[in-house]
Amino acid sequence: MSDKKVILSGIQPSGALTLGSYLGAIKNWVKLSDEYDCYYMIVDMHAITSRQEASVLRKTPFEQLAQYIACGLDPEKNTLFIQSHVPAHAQLAWVLNCYTMFGELSRMTQFKDKSGKNVNNINAGLFTYPALQAADILLYQADLVPVGADQKQHIELTRDIAVRFNGIYGDVFKLPEPYIPTVGARIMDLQAPTNKMSKSEINDGGCILMMDKPEDIKRLFKRAVTDSETCVRYDVDNKPGISNLMQIYSVCTGKGFEEIEKEFDGKGYGDFKLRVGEAVVELLQPIREEATKLLADKAYLENIFKNGAEKASYVANKTLRKVYKKVGFIEKT
Ligand code: TRP
Repeated sequence: MSDKKVILSGIQPSGALTLGSYLGAIKNWVKLSDEYDCYYMIVDMHAITSRQEASVLRKTPFEQLAQYIACGLDPEKNTLFIQSHVPAHAQLAWVLNCYTMFGELSRMTQFKDKSGKNVNNINAGLFTYPALQAADILLYQADLVPVGADQKQHIELTRDIAVRFNGIYGDVFKLPEPYIPTVGARIMDLQAPTNKMSKSEINDGGCILMMDKPEDIKRLFKRAVTDSETCVRYDVDNKPGISNLMQIYSVCTGKGFEEIEKEFDGKGYGDFKLRVGEAVVELLQPIREEATKLLADKAYLENIFKNGAEKASYVANKTLRKVYKKVGFIEKT
């Protein structure tokens, strides 16, 4: 085993990956591959806390994996796997459910949001979702968990559960830290720039998908919401639309905000939006082509999932065995 620090994160296969998933998450994951021991999973068990079409759920993980690899995540350097392929997640989640308080789960903003939006399916899984997420993280003794700011509360709860468990049984779990990237962390909706860019938002035209065609991407950027000024200037509070576009342009090109302000000094929003659209097309085009190629070789992708699950299971089962022993479960002979 390496003595590198452990990183773990996951994305739900509940829809296509967006430009936000790439700039806010996957792009950063790629940079971490050398320095850390990285586990990235596709959290299909979390996905079914809201109703999924089975035929879609059977396909999305393959598409997601193809896109992960096309983004530069090397399956040799990273452990890429599907959550439901490693039963230890469900097993530890049950145990942790018994060390997670009703009151704690009731305070989770994601639960309040999602149950508010989906009053017809407030199921127990949606409520105990954070206990499964805690299991995901604690099984691997993760040091760092790269997530968007919206997930910080779940990581804090994970720590609280770990502290509680360790307090009773000794040092079983490593306490994880959230790892929230500063730039690109929150790519916002192009039509409603105070909301995170997300596939599930109903806003038409606000979300760019990784696999969108160049002409569609350019069209959506042309339509992006701006403001009544004419000046390209970074000011999240007063100019959320322009600031979001600057953020996107900045991550695509590596240019800083001042440089961008200078580049578009005296030019109209039309020019700016056109350039941002082009920059995103340049960024996504090669990824889209590579992902399409990879997706045609299902056996290759299946093999990565198989190896990933094997590697992940080995580590996860070590932690699970320890937990079972600590709580007093009799070892199966
Ligand atoms: N809850 C996360 C999200 O909605 C996804 C997730 C599940 C996750 N398990 C995880 C993220 C473990 C980090 C670590 O974005």
